Amino acid sequence: MNHDNEHLPDRILSMHEQSVREMEEPRDGVSPTPVSFLLMCFVLTAWGGYYIADNPGNWSGTEYNPKPANLTAAGPAVKEDPMVLGKQIFNVCAQCHQSTGAGVAGTYPPLVGSEYVTGDPSRFSAILLNGLKGPITVNGVVYSGEMPAWRDLYSDEELAAVMTYARNSWGNKAPPVPEAIATKVRADLPAGAPAFAGR
Ligand code: HEC
Repeated sequence: MNHDNEHLPDRILSMHEQSVREMEEPRDGVSPTPVSFLLMCFVLTAWGGYYIADNPGNWSGTEYNPKPANLTAAGPAVKEDPMVLGKQIFNVCAQCHQSTGAGVAGTYPPLVGSEYVTGDPSRFSAILLNGLKGPITVNGVVYSGEMPAWRDLYSDEELAAVMTYARNSWGNKAPPVPEAIATKVRADLPAGAPAFAGR
């Protein structure tokens, strides 16, 4: 018996094992791109487009706007802090009521501790819009002077801001005044009319 032939199947198998480990032989011709791969590319492209459209980051295809409002503090959409704006406007009020809000004894009434300041914001709005004339008692002291009207000088936003500032300075503590209150009083109270009943 031939010793070699006896182990032939084993040898053939081991030879095949070696060739199976090798890469496939390159073939001629073209093979079609798998549909699943094309589908995946399409889905990824569509998702990418949707993602960019959904997150445009202030970019607009229809208008040129180098400084989108919501990115700049000075943009028209951003309201100024009423305490900052109010303090600025109060420079005018301080000419009479002093920067401490304490007023001048006998001449200009104090804003510190005054219920006209910390009380009804509509009455405060009326006092600023139409000014004040005649005797008024503030913190138990009677003043009889005259304050000009600020109606034509300040916007509702500015009036609300200076009221909010006066209501929260020098120890005063009262809720901020919404701009809408100044707007309503301006519309309801005719110019030149007394600021409130008894005036
Ligand atoms: C030209 C001086 C002058 C200026 C400026 C002035 N006021 Fe007056 N203010 C007066 C006088 C005088 C009275 C008292 C009027 C009276 O006797 O009826 C008064 C009264 C008031 C009152 C009611 C009384 C009180 O003390 O609570 C408030 C509130 C007030 N002023 C707030 C302001 C605010 C806020 C500003 C700035 C927007 C301002 N004033 C600017 C002179 C002034």
